[in-house]
Amino acid sequence: MNPSLPTPQVGVPQSARRIVIAGATGTVGRLTAARLASLGGHDVTLLTRDPGKAAASGLPGRIVGAEFASPATLRPALRGADALLLITNDPLRPDHDINLLDAAVAAGTPHVVKLSAQAVTDPDADDVITRWQRGNEERLQDSGLPWTLLRPRAFMTHALAWRDGIAKDGVVRGLHGDSLNACVDPADIADAAVQALTGTGHRGRTYALTGPRAISARDKTAILSDVLGRPLVFEEISLDQAREQWRRRLPEALVDALTLSAERQNVGAKAAVASGVREATGHAPRSFRTWAAEHASAFTHVCA
Ligand SMILES: NC(=O)c1ccc[n+]([C@@H]2O[C@H](COP(=O)([O-])OP(=O)(O)OC[C@H]3O[C@@H](n4cnc5c(N)ncnc54)[C@H](OP(=O)(O)O)[C@@H]3O)[C@@H](O)[C@H]2O)c1
Repeated sequence: MNPSLPTPQVGVPQSARRIVIAGATGTVGRLTAARLASLGGHDVTLLTRDPGKAAASGLPGRIVGAEFASPATLRPALRGADALLLITNDPLRPDHDINLLDAAVAAGTPHVVKLSAQAVTDPDADDVITRWQRGNEERLQDSGLPWTLLRPRAFMTHALAWRDGIAKDGVVRGLHGDSLNACVDPADIADAAVQALTGTGHRGRTYALTGPRAISARDKTAILSDVLGRPLVFEEISLDQAREQWRRRLPEALVDALTLSAERQNVGAKAAVASGVREATGHAPRSFRTWAAEHASAFTHVCA
């Protein structure tokens, strides 16, 4: 923590704020929107390309159509906002962050909270995803707008990709099964986002958000087995098999980036536990066991 900045005020009720969430239907955006709705008192605008679908999914708040590639849809959404939670997810489209930031600068948004990634701090991380996040952070810091950076490690929710294997035959298939990652519960990222968006003392701060300990895919398999009350087996796949799986849903540039990222994890680059969750939220980070218990029902049926 930077001692020259004021101490963050955690959990102290603040006056009503007008908050915009870009990326509101995603993993972190949705959890943040739900928390702001249950806090009440804030005026929250949720951006999505498909407002009808977002409303049907029960997303709480004022849902507004916006396309990150279209500045004309972003500027009206940002007008009058006190804070923006800036979440984008396409490393091959830096224009998305550029357009959102331009709209925030035009509107004079008093605070931008950016969801970035902890990998930006690793000098050996030079893949296209990390370079994109570094560029996003630099642009925000150079914009003149007050900022907060949330830098999570891998989301615990990645384990949801194992649902079918677990439900079908009790097998978890993954790469580098013993490599460690101090993965974080997205609920903790959302808690940090809520504090940064509604509290004081978070401007100019970066929060390294990890779970309470580094765990491997084999550790997670054992925890899931325990929580679900059934035997599960971990089966290691090769890098070629992993790349083939990624290729089914991602362009080659991102397959290469994930390969480099997995190799860094395999040499221990993602095992460090950080104190950002406690600094930003005042509470301890949730464990993978807690996450697994809360999501146990997701592992009991095969997806369509
Ligand atoms: N997953 C991890 O382990 C991990 C780790 C560290 C950092 N991160 C960072 O977390 C961020 C992603 O967060 P997330 O997983 O919560 O997001 P996500 O679930 O991937 O959701 C992406 C959101 O962006 C919106 N979106 C995408 N393209 C859009 C467009 N062209 N116009 C308007 N909206 C658009 C989507 O809205 P609609 O589809 O409704 O329009 C959705 O709400 C990334 O920056 C990533 O680098 C992730």
